[in-house]
Amino acid sequence: MSEMAGVAKQLVTRGKGVLAADESLGSIGKRFEALGIENSHENRKAYREMLFGTPGAEEYISGAITFDETLRDGLGQMLSEKGIIPGIKVDKGTVELANFPGEKVTEGLDGLAERLKEYAGMGAKFTKWRAVIKIGAGMPTTTCINVNAEILARYAALSQAAGLVPFVEPEVLLDDGHDLERCREVTDAVWQKVFEKLAEYKIEFEGMILKASMVIAMDTGAEEVARETVALLRRRVPVEVGGIVFLSGGQDEIRSTLNLNEMNKINPPWQLSFSYGRALQDSALKTWVGKAENVESARQTFLHRAKMNSLATKGEYQQE
Ligand code: 13P
Repeated sequence: MSEMAGVAKQLVTRGKGVLAADESLGSIGKRFEALGIENSHENRKAYREMLFGTPGAEEYISGAITFDETLRDGLGQMLSEKGIIPGIKVDKGTVELANFPGEKVTEGLDGLAERLKEYAGMGAKFTKWRAVIKIGAGMPTTTCINVNAEILARYAALSQAAGLVPFVEPEVLLDDGHDLERCREVTDAVWQKVFEKLAEYKIEFEGMILKASMVIAMDTGAEEVARETVALLRRRVPVEVGGIVFLSGGQDEIRSTLNLNEMNKINPPWQLSFSYGRALQDSALKTWVGKAENVESARQTFLHRAKMNSLATKGEYQQE
């Protein structure tokens, strides 16, 4: 087994999953602002230290995705010392796809090989790249799917060339405007194109992770989400893929956990795990609100969500 395949396997060990704490300066700013927390470097560092320093988190959390600043703050080291594998978001966010109003393309390929070398030197073992697909009138276009799939494959190839496990994340946005059938149809087209491109770019499937959005609409129940998502994964994702993790995409904490739990109850051919951002952090951030005296209770809150999602990787979660 290659070293990357070994890392991928470790990241989706039964009972464990990944904390996505890679919010860009702007994204963390929005979350902080909503709670009246100043978006300063000091606060961002203190917040990530609160999460990463949670005693016992390593029992449920296999890896954490960081942002450039966090890795430069030396917090990758803090994770490694606890036995949590550090990863890094390497895309530079989305911009409008010119001539395709409302659609996005992700930037960050220029100079990526150099950045990957630097991140590997700082201890990162895996990377993440997020592409965004929006469902709407006439959207997504084939062009939007194609360009994002091509870029995801180029990113994945560069990441593997640097010895880093890529988290290939084509996020089909969860909006209130679309129904389940439409989400299934779009996700199907996206996964088909993404895996076609990954094969073309000679990606070692065992050494990559698919970070997937669920097949879901606003009102879909957990059993249906599970059935639909696992059926589509079986149809479009090679069994060799090293691991599959899900983003929460704006679902609340409990719903995210329930959906993952239902998926694992139907014994899919891969270990399905989580790589949640908001669904692991929302309550903890609200408890912390930037105050040192709240660190302990915020850690308890975070640990609880991590534990519930750990149970969901085994299909053993009981709704709270
Ligand atoms: P959410 O779980 O909040 O969607 O974030 C996961 C992530 O990493 C999105 O890129």
